[in-house]
Order: sequence, then structure tokens, then C-alpha cells
Amino acid sequence: MNSKTEAFLTQPATPAVPMAWAEVGQSHPHESAVLHVLGEATYTDDIPEAAGTLHAALGISAKAHANILSMNFDAVKAMPGVVAVYTHKDIPGTNDCGPIIHDDPILSEGLVEYVGQPIFIVVATSHDNARRAVKKAVIEYEELPAILTPQAARDAKSFVVPPMHLARGDAQAAFERSPHKLKGSLHVGGQEQFYLEGQISYAIPKEGKGMLIYCSTQHPTEMQHVVAHALHRQSHDIVVECRRMGGGFGGKESQSALWAACAAISAAHLRRPVKLRADRDDDMMVTGKRHCFYYEYEMGYGDDGRIIAAKVEMVSRAGFSADLSAPVATRAVCHFDNAYYLGDVDIRAMAGKTNTQSNTAFRGFGGPQGAIAIEYIVDEIARNLGMDALDVRKINFYGRNDEEGRNVTQYNQKVVDNVIHDLVAQLEEESSYRKRREEINAFNASSRVLKRGLALTPVKFGIAFNVTHFNQAGALVHIYTDGSVLVNHGGTEMGQGINTKVCQVVAHELGIDLAMVRATATDTSKVANTSATAASTGADLNGKAAQDAANTIRKRLAEFAAKRHDGDPATVRFEANFVHVGDQAIPFAELVQKAYMARIQLWSDGFYATPGLHWDPKTMSGNPFSYYAYGASVSEVVVDTLTGEWKLLQADALYDAGNSLNPAIDVGQVEGAFIQGMGWLTTEELWWNPAGKLMTHAPSTYKIPGVSDCPENFNVRLFKNRNVMDSIHRSKAVGEPPLLLPFSVFLAIRDACSSVGGHRYNPPLRAPATSEAILDAISAVQAQGAA
Ligand code: MTE
Ligand code: MOS
Repeated sequence: MNSKTEAFLTQPATPAVPMAWAEVGQSHPHESAVLHVLGEATYTDDIPEAAGTLHAALGISAKAHANILSMNFDAVKAMPGVVAVYTHKDIPGTNDCGPIIHDDPILSEGLVEYVGQPIFIVVATSHDNARRAVKKAVIEYEELPAILTPQAARDAKSFVVPPMHLARGDAQAAFERSPHKLKGSLHVGGQEQFYLEGQISYAIPKEGKGMLIYCSTQHPTEMQHVVAHALHRQSHDIVVECRRMGGGFGGKESQSALWAACAAISAAHLRRPVKLRADRDDDMMVTGKRHCFYYEYEMGYGDDGRIIAAKVEMVSRAGFSADLSAPVATRAVCHFDNAYYLGDVDIRAMAGKTNTQSNTAFRGFGGPQGAIAIEYIVDEIARNLGMDALDVRKINFYGRNDEEGRNVTQYNQKVVDNVIHDLVAQLEEESSYRKRREEINAFNASSRVLKRGLALTPVKFGIAFNVTHFNQAGALVHIYTDGSVLVNHGGTEMGQGINTKVCQVVAHELGIDLAMVRATATDTSKVANTSATAASTGADLNGKAAQDAANTIRKRLAEFAAKRHDGDPATVRFEANFVHVGDQAIPFAELVQKAYMARIQLWSDGFYATPGLHWDPKTMSGNPFSYYAYGASVSEVVVDTLTGEWKLLQADALYDAGNSLNPAIDVGQVEGAFIQGMGWLTTEELWWNPAGKLMTHAPSTYKIPGVSDCPENFNVRLFKNRNVMDSIHRSKAVGEPPLLLPFSVFLAIRDACSSVGGHRYNPPLRAPATSEAILDAISAVQAQGAA
């Protein structure tokens, strides 16, 4: 990526190992970087196929809401290479792949609820044969009325879970007594995960009731459960393995289950290996995406821009089933504050049941949808008061400490690690924000068509699963007699670098080079009962679990070394491939060999559970997060006000990765998330036709950012910090929060639009800010100016 990056190499934090030598806090390449570049990394479709492997394809609904009157598969069965056709009647166990609520049939039982819903499976001798045959089914439908938008779902009281409500104080009374008031609405679109590797599962029957499934999934344990239930077998019969994903981005947290189940059901019937790989169009037609949200808000605020009352009602497009829509809505409610103390609050959130794909996790998991709304609103407060939006942001930040009780969130968690003031001050300075504001004003005064815009937006993002019991992880560390180390943990690698980080932690703990440590594929038969690699907690949880395992072995080796060399176990040091006892230095591999001969156990498990978390879903309050990650970014854009085209000229981002485990990987995560979030808010538009068919189901019609959309001037830095929580080496999560950084791109576009009306009117800019949306917003500003 064409970016000037600079990372702070901070000191490692573990006191047990001397500061001079460290494998954490260092920039190491991703453990698979070379394999990725050479095309040698094994993804699920690259696994050599076992003899007799068959290929499956899914037959999907052509209607948004209908009863199936009849199905005829004669023409399907007559197609070349077709081996079998299966419907819901062929599922030996439970026909369900819902992660929380069991409202999600694997195959339709007669009712179809969106265009794209799987109805039947065709198994054939090749991928192409299966896909050709699927199209030959003759299905008769009786159509039913369909609900397609979140607003229509709200009006029809059609929800997948009961509406949520969070209140603090008396927002209505506070609103009424506020010196200034504003009301408005906003629509923010959804987003396709667009992982480069699509959904895929490869099921191989084993002896007895055994089934091995290679699956591209963020959640091997849940795949194990869904397949066990569908096959009516026990969890110990099913093994799910994932070496890596070609991206998950939340789309393979729950929704890999459908593919795993269909491959396994077919393989169980035929007693032959069956692979199910989705074509890109099918993947986009069948699977859920980021939820779009519609908001209506009323805010009260003071002369200085300080928020006094915040009332918002948000409704998401959940799709036809619950999937993860409830926790996504919960996270949106818990991020409506972003970095701000909101005064009296009244938040309502609904997950609208619509006849569309069942929406699911996507990087940020509702957090971005909660926070974008408040940033949009703060932007309006500033314009209404004629203030710079940065000044309104600053006056609303959570307190640095306990000052005036302004450090308690709407869900009653105290913010004890606030660095947003210092972080934003640093970014404001480094990006020359004030100077550029003046330059942009001067430019716009003399440029009639091209208008520039600037915005600085902050991020505060809560780290942990809201559901407390998910915050646990396990690991298994083996040392072989040559001193090499193999690590298995419950996390999954999707490109984010979890294996690299976990290996660094283990290498650091054992005092050996990273090259001595290798991570295996994630495998449900090695570490059991794992949580999804999600909520940005992967490295936090699995890093701690692996450290625990490595530490157990280190203690055994230290005791052994001390005994052998007449030392004190407490002073034995593990450093740079040597074990130091008194003034003796023994090569690590030599000590391991001796320990084996002395019958010392050279492998161990490890476990971690995040302390201090609790959450009451009824009152929507508690301590759902272990800590907060912070960040901010400044974006400058130029907009062509005649065509709606725009360009990001410069982006500066500062992100708080705490005491970063691997600054190079973290900077990469920030860059990737920034561009992905920019795509969500600008070019990526999901469009369903009036019959409920998604028409943007391929890259030809769905525009993700390309290399040329990256700003030429892209400065990503890590903020120098140390987690106040005892996280792994005091680092902070980095997977999702930076997706919120490009709010500044969206609001810089809005700023450019508002310059057309001398910044007197609020452009009603919807997201994604496509060229059409930009032109609509500019027209509305011009109309207000003319009125
Ligand atoms: N980075 C890459 N390259 N590919 C991905 O699929 N997923 C993101 C983020 N970064 C993703 C990624 C999401 S949605 C999450 S929750 C985190 O990685 C999960 O990994 P972590 O918890 O180990 O950071
Ligand atoms: Mo990430 S959306 O929590 O998989």
C-alpha cells in the first residue's frame, strides 16, 4: 500500500523477561506473508481432494416471500454428473443453523422468506455440473407480501427480537429545557463483507459416525455444533478444521454454518467427500451483510455546543431471521456515545424483520452504526452554532478523569482509560488541522465547481464480547525435543495476524526466536469449546491463553534447570535462545532435550477468562467492556459539485493499539480497516429491486475500494500508550475499531457539500455517499439557500 507509515516501537511490558530482549512489541512480518505472496498458502479449496470427492451447489428461492406449492427435480436429475438432490426432508437431525435463536432453517421447509434462500442441494461429479443442474429445478410459488426496508418493518412492528430501550435521566425534560434543539433523520446503508475467499466447506466422512469438515470459518466450534445437530450426532463425532480464511470480516462468524451443514449432510448420505464452494453471486445472494440502519433523532444542546439531551430511535434491516441482529443492535446502542458524554439519554433500537438476507456480523458489529449517528449529529450542532466541528467534539468528550461525573457511559460503565483528549490534540497538531481549514476556506472562496472539505473524527470502541461467557480462550503449547515449538489456540486466522501475535507471545515467554514457534490450523479436536474469533478479542484472549500454557512449561524448565545447575528457579532467565542459570547459559534446545530425558512434561494447556465483565440485558447496563481502544483521523476531500465525483486527498490517522504487540501488523490493520470503512460510507451500495431481489451481487455492480482509491497522502501512526488493563503485554485490540476512522471521509464530503451554501445549512447526506447521494445533498442545500 502506498502509505507513509510510522510506528512507535514501544518497550515490552513483561517484567519476567529483561527489556533488552523481546519478541513482542516488534514488527515481524505476518507468519504467512511469504506463502500469501507466492500463492502457496493453503485455503480450503487448495486442500488436495480425496479420491471420490463430489461437489455440491445450492438451489435458491426466486421469491422474497412465498409458499412453495410444488418442486420438480426431474430435469435436475437428468443433467450430466448429478448424483443426488436433497431437501429439508433429507436432514437427519435439526434443520437449523441459527447461532442464538433457532429461526434459521438450513433448507426451506415450504416457506421462503428472501430471494436467495436455500431450498435444496444438488450433488454432482464437478462444481460446474452441480451449478448447471441447480438451475433446472421447476418450483411453483404462491407469493406473499414482502417487507423490504427497516422503516416498513418498524411500521408493521415486524421484528426478529423485541425492541430495546436504554434510558438515563429524563431525556424528554432535558430536551425541552435545552437552549438549542435539533431534529433529524439519517439512513446508513449496509455492506457486503466481500472476503476474497468465498464461503466454502469440504466434508469428509470418517469411520463410524465421524465427520471431518474443512471450513472457512471464524467459529469452528459453532460449525461443530450445527453439523452435529443437523446430522443428529454428538459433538465428539465432528471435527472442524480451519487453517486460514481469505478474509472473514464477520461474514464467517455464523454464516459459514449453512455451507458446513450442507456439505456434511450430503457427505453423510453418500459416504463420500463433498465440497460446497459458493460462487461469488450465490455468496452475495445467500449470505447476510452489515445491517443498514435508519435513525430519527432529537438533540438538546447549549450555546457552547455541549449536548444536554440525546434521543434516538434506530431500526436496522435484520433480514428474515435473527442471526446476530440482537447483539449487533446492542453494540450500536453501546456506541451511540462514541467518545462523548451525552447527558440525559433515551435510545431505542429495533431489529426489523425484512424479506432479505439475514444480516450478520461485519467488522465493528453495530459499533460503527451506533457511532456514525452521533458524529452526524455533532456535525449538525457545529453548523447550527457556526462553530468548527472539532471544537464541538472536544467540548463533548468524556472527562479525562472523574471530573463532574462526565466519564460514565449511558450503559453505566465508567471510562477509566480516556486518552481521547491527548490523542486528538496530537493529531490536530500533526495534521495541521487549523491551518488546512483556513486554506480550504480560501480555496472554496475562489473555486466555483470544485469544493474541498475537511473533518476530524474521534473513535472510542469497547473491547470484549457483550455476552460475558464468550470472553474465554484456550491454547495448547508443545515443545518438541529439538526445541521447536508448536502452538494451537482457539482463534482463527483470517489475515489479521493472530497467529503471528500468538507465536510472538509464546516465543517471548520461552525466550526463543519467533522462527522457533509455529502455529497449527485451528481444530476443534485440539482446543474445545472455543468462542468465535470476533469482537476484536482474538489476540487478546488467545494470546493470554497461549502465554499461560507457555508459562507453565517455562516454570517446569526453570525448576529443572535450577536443580541441575544449582541455581534458584526464581532467577532463571529465558532470553535469546538461551536459558541462564547463575552465570551459566544453556542453549534452549539442549535444556529441552535434557528435560525430556528427565521425564519433564514438555507440553501444556493454557486458559484465560477476561475478568471484571458483567452485563444486564434487561436494563442494558453493566460493565460490558474490558477497556476502550481510541483513535482519530483527519480527512481532506475535493468534491466536484457538478458531477458528485470526489477524491480523498489526504488522510491522517492516529490509533491507540496500547503497547502494540506488532506495530507493522497493527498499522496494516488500521490501513485496511480505514479503506474498508471508507468503502462502506461512500461507494458500496446494496440495492434491492422492488421485488426484493438484490441487484448488486457481484463486483460489476458493487464497488469496493481499489488501490487507486487510497489517498496518495496516507499517514497512519500508532498512539504511544499502554493499556491500563492487564491485557496481553498491555496491548490493545486493533481488528475492528479503525473501521470507524473514515467517518472523517464521509463528514469531509458533507463539509464540502455544505460549503455550497456557505455552511449555513445541513446537507442531508445519506450513506453511502455515492455521487447520486452527494448531488442530492448539494441540491437540497441549494434549495434551502434559494428559499
Ligand atoms: N483483517 C483481515 N485481514 N481479514 C479479516 O477478515 N476481520 C476483522 C479484523 N481484521 C479481518 C481483519 C474482524 S471483523 C475482526 S472481529 C478481527 O479482525 C478479528 O481478529 P482479532 O480479534 O484477532 O483482531
Ligand atoms: Mo468481527 S465483525 O467481530 O468478526
